Parts: sequence; structure tokens; C-alpha cells
Amino acid sequence: MPAMSDDRRDFNGRKVVITGGLGFIGSTAARRLVGLGAHVTLVDSLIPQYGGNLFNIADIKDQVRVNVSDVRDEYSLRTLVQGQDCLLNLAGQTSHMDSMEDPFTDLDINCRSQLSILEVCRRYNPEIKVVFASTRQIYGKPDYLPVDEQHPVRPVDVNGINKLAGEWYHILYNNVYGVRASALRLTNTIGPRMRVKDARQTFLGVWVRLLLEGRPFEVWEGHQLRDFTYVDDVVDAFLLAAGSDAANGQVLNLGGECVVSLKAVADLLIEINGGGHYELRSFPSDRKRIDIGDYYSDCRRIESVLGWTPKVPLREALTRTIEFYRQHLHCYV
Ligand SMILES: NC(=O)c1ccc[n+]([C@@H]2O[C@H](COP(=O)([O-])OP(=O)(O)OC[C@H]3O[C@@H](n4cnc5c(N)ncnc54)[C@H](O)[C@@H]3O)[C@@H](O)[C@H]2O)c1
Repeated sequence: MPAMSDDRRDFNGRKVVITGGLGFIGSTAARRLVGLGAHVTLVDSLIPQYGGNLFNIADIKDQVRVNVSDVRDEYSLRTLVQGQDCLLNLAGQTSHMDSMEDPFTDLDINCRSQLSILEVCRRYNPEIKVVFASTRQIYGKPDYLPVDEQHPVRPVDVNGINKLAGEWYHILYNNVYGVRASALRLTNTIGPRMRVKDARQTFLGVWVRLLLEGRPFEVWEGHQLRDFTYVDDVVDAFLLAAGSDAANGQVLNLGGECVVSLKAVADLLIEINGGGHYELRSFPSDRKRIDIGDYYSDCRRIESVLGWTPKVPLREALTRTIEFYRQHLHCYV
């Protein structure tokens, strides 16, 4: 099987497996890869309280292979990575609160399973290229802004610690065993197919849902700064990293095209929707304990390594998201 060499950005005919492929970002990557002519396999556990949703692939279901299995099941992993050119490793438990209430499930999925995936790659497909979905959560409360990759890592929740370990297993396997791997540290990602039924993935999803249902949503404090990335930009970064050996062994921040307060995002959503209400509240105490305050990324490293910059403006990102859920909300609640 040929290895994907440097600057191999042509996915036509390539075999790509996506863990978490029925989720928000995974299914968006799948759609893009199908359009590029790749042979795409989606691995997802479809555990009901997680983000997998078959509706996410309704339009491409005949063009992808779906394997409903759990990355905690080491035995099914072998057949899934064998013969593949590339693995986009996105399966994850995404809820920070759940990681505090049930830390061992988070440990099993976000940490132990990552090691299992990499072991299977090392033993059965060392030529594969892996791109891992890491998170800005690992930095914790920033010492300075924008946050670059030199910033100390100081996770504020169990999820952040397990994602950090998962990330570093990838870098270790790259450096020690030559299993080419890159980690992208994602910030808040938004777009069609993001989770809206609860806040397990992002508070913004719940805002969109309540807005479209004509109900008020809650904004906690509201002055916190964020840089949201549109999902298509995130997929661009995954494909660039997958297709370039320049990113091997690297951790790279993603970020958004602008920095904005949560209150400003709420106002913009209401403007785009043509109406709506929110209530400003203080943080619930259990959330406050793991809140990171302001965050936005310094993305200069990924720009220099892969030429990636976020392209879709926030207004456009929110408009596309609201338009999608105007049509399809019933499939996501
Ligand atoms: N969305 C964001 O803002 C964001 C930010 C930082 C990092 N990330 C990371 O990106 C990745 C994808 O996130 P997403 O936003 O698409 O979330 P998502 O919940 O929509 O997708 C994750 C998918 O993983 C699947 N999954 C969970 N546990 C599994 C298991 N044990 N075996 C197989 N499949 C399993 C879920 O069913 C789901 O489809 C995650 O690893 C997440 O930590 C996302």
C-alpha cells in the first residue's frame, strides 16, 4: 500500500477511515472526502447520549461505509485500520461536565482507546497517516492571549487531561514508531450538524435550538471572549494535515476569523434570526469551577506549516447554521 507522501493532497481513490464519523465534524469531513473521490469508512458507536446521528450522512449514505462499533473495542479496531491510507481520529466523549461526573468513561474513550488505536496502527498499518482532534481545553485558563502552542498546558477538567494524554500518545507514536500523526487543537467549532439538543458539545447549539423554538436562552456572564471556527474550515485543516508530512509530530492550534464576546454572539444570532431573546445570568457554580474565562488562539504555526487560516466569517457561519436548523431541527432534538 502506498504511503501518503508529503503534499499528497489528492484524495481521489484514497482510503480514509474516520472515527466519530457520524458526529458533527466527522460527517462534515466525510461529505468533503466523498466529493474528492475518497473511499470513506465511518466508525461510530452511536451511543444515544453522544453526538452520532445517521441523519448527518443522509445525503451521502450510499457513498460511505458505516461501521457501528466502539473504539473501546480493541478487537474491531484492527480490521478497521488495515488497508487504510489515512485516519481522521475524531471519536470522543465531548462533555466537560460528563467527564467530571463519570471520569472513567472519559478516561476509557479519550485516553485508553487512543492508545489502542495507535497500537493497532503500529502493528497492522504503520504506513497510515493519523490526524487527531485535540482541543484548546488542555490549556486551561490562559496566562496570555492569544494562546499559542508554547502556552503551558493546565487542564481544568478531567476531559482536558484525557484529551491531552490522547494527543501526546499520537505525538509519541509519531516520534518513536514513525506512525505519522498530527494533532489539531480545536477551539469552539460551529456549523450545520453541531449538537443542539443539549450543551454536551457547545452552549451555542442550545442557543440555536431555543432561538428557533421561540424560547429565551441563557447567556452566562456574556463578556467572555471566544474565536469560533466554522466546521468547513476545521475540515480544511484536517485534510491539509492529512495530506502533508510537514505536520507530522506537530500540535497545531486552530482558531476563528474574529474574536467576539458571548453577548455579541447572542446579539448577532438574534439579528440573523430576525428576533429572539436571551437572559443574562451568572455562571452555575458547577460550571464556574471548570470555566476557562477568555480564550482565543494564535494560529500562526498552522498558517506557516500548512498555509491554513480560518476563512468563513462568523456572521456567515451563524447564518448557514440557522438556515440548516430551520429545515432540520426535528432531526436533532
Ligand atoms: N466541536 C468542538 O467544538 C470541538 C472542540 C474541541 C475538540 N473537539 C473534538 O473533535 C472531535 C469531534 O467532535 P464533534 O464536535 O464532531 O463531536 P460529536 O459528538 O458530534 O462527534 C464525536 C463522535 O464520536 C462518537 N463516539 C463517541 N464515543 C465513541 C466511541 N467510544 N466509539 C466510537 N465512536 C464514539 C460519537 O458517537 C460522535 O458521533 C472530538 O474528539 C472532540 O473532542 C471538538
